[in-house]
Amino acid sequence: MLALLFLVLLTTSLNLHVEAQDIGSRIKVYANRGDNITLPCHLEGQSSLFGNRIKWTKMENDSTETDVLISMGFHKKTYGNFQNRVYLLEADENDATLVLTDINLNDYGTYICEVINGLNDKITEVDLELQGVVFPYSPRRGRYNLNFHDAEAACLEQDAVVASFEQLFEAWKGGLDWCNAGWLNDGTVQYPITNPREPCGGARTSAGLRNYGQRDKSNSRYDVFCFTSALKGRFYYLILPKKLSYDEAVQACKNDGAEIAKVGHIYSAWKLLGYDRCDAGWLADGSVRYPISRPRRNCSPTEAAVRFVGFPDKKQKLYGVYCYKTQ
Ligand SMILES: *[C@@H]1O[C@H](CO)[C@@H](O)[C@H](O)[C@H]1NC(C)=O
Ligand SMILES: *[C@@H]1O[C@H](CO)[C@@H](O)[C@H](O)[C@H]1NC(C)=O
Repeated sequence: MLALLFLVLLTTSLNLHVEAQDIGSRIKVYANRGDNITLPCHLEGQSSLFGNRIKWTKMENDSTETDVLISMGFHKKTYGNFQNRVYLLEADENDATLVLTDINLNDYGTYICEVINGLNDKITEVDLELQGVVFPYSPRRGRYNLNFHDAEAACLEQDAVVASFEQLFEAWKGGLDWCNAGWLNDGTVQYPITNPREPCGGARTSAGLRNYGQRDKSNSRYDVFCFTSALKGRFYYLILPKKLSYDEAVQACKNDGAEIAKVGHIYSAWKLLGYDRCDAGWLADGSVRYPISRPRRNCSPTEAAVRFVGFPDKKQKLYGVYCYKTQ
């Protein structure tokens, strides 16, 4: 605990974001997209790390491990998309803490620190959790149209990734209730029910995640649950004197030095920034939605939600537009 406190003080001065919680041998670290964070790992006792091998790996959603960083004395090597983004903090000679910079959505997951000296190897597991929002997604061509690979592409197009089971579970605890089944990143298909009812797995079943189990990634078609984290840029409704067609909406954002916003942007702004606007606007995928944080008459009266109007004819001039400007 003292070591952790020391780390917090130390890293604060280095402008690193760390919010760690020690849970037994497992440590949880919470981050936002774009943050620099530290994943703590210490060798207890007197022995020094010098001459030991330090190996950081990441556990993937299919339980394989990928290398992040390997260190042997002065020789260090980083791997894959961690290259040039990770280094060892080396605060003292017992410190194997990893610094991970510019966190992205794929960094979410469990990291394993192994200190190998041949005598008493030590393993520490650190869960990196991202603060963010889970949202259900189905494309213009309609419900239950995505195989797993389409689902990954669909989330990516919305500035998101396919959600994990843990992320959907957290969203369910936060009240998410959705009656269409969607892919998760472990290849299962599930949906969250807080309010059991007949068409959604039965009225007399208990609340929870309904699980269809592993599905064929090429041939099974469902919706998807996407996950996105905080925005680096600015999400806003573009104030204009008249309503726009889809093409005009795309152009209007461009003229404003921005791009038309994605579905991930509207959910992130709504959930994490409390964005509230009772104007239906075009988004990049051709859908029309609006974000309501303060439910009121004529604007999602019963719940805070991102309201889905539909995928209207793109020529209709009935809506405004939401834009996104990277900063
Ligand atoms: C993260 O670290 C990099 C250098 O490693 C630095 O350029 C950047 O400003 C840092 N970002 C934040 C948010 O502190
Ligand atoms: C794990 O997630 C990555 C990225 O979302 C994906 O490309 C990969 O197919 C997933 N693996 C499994 C086994 O689900």
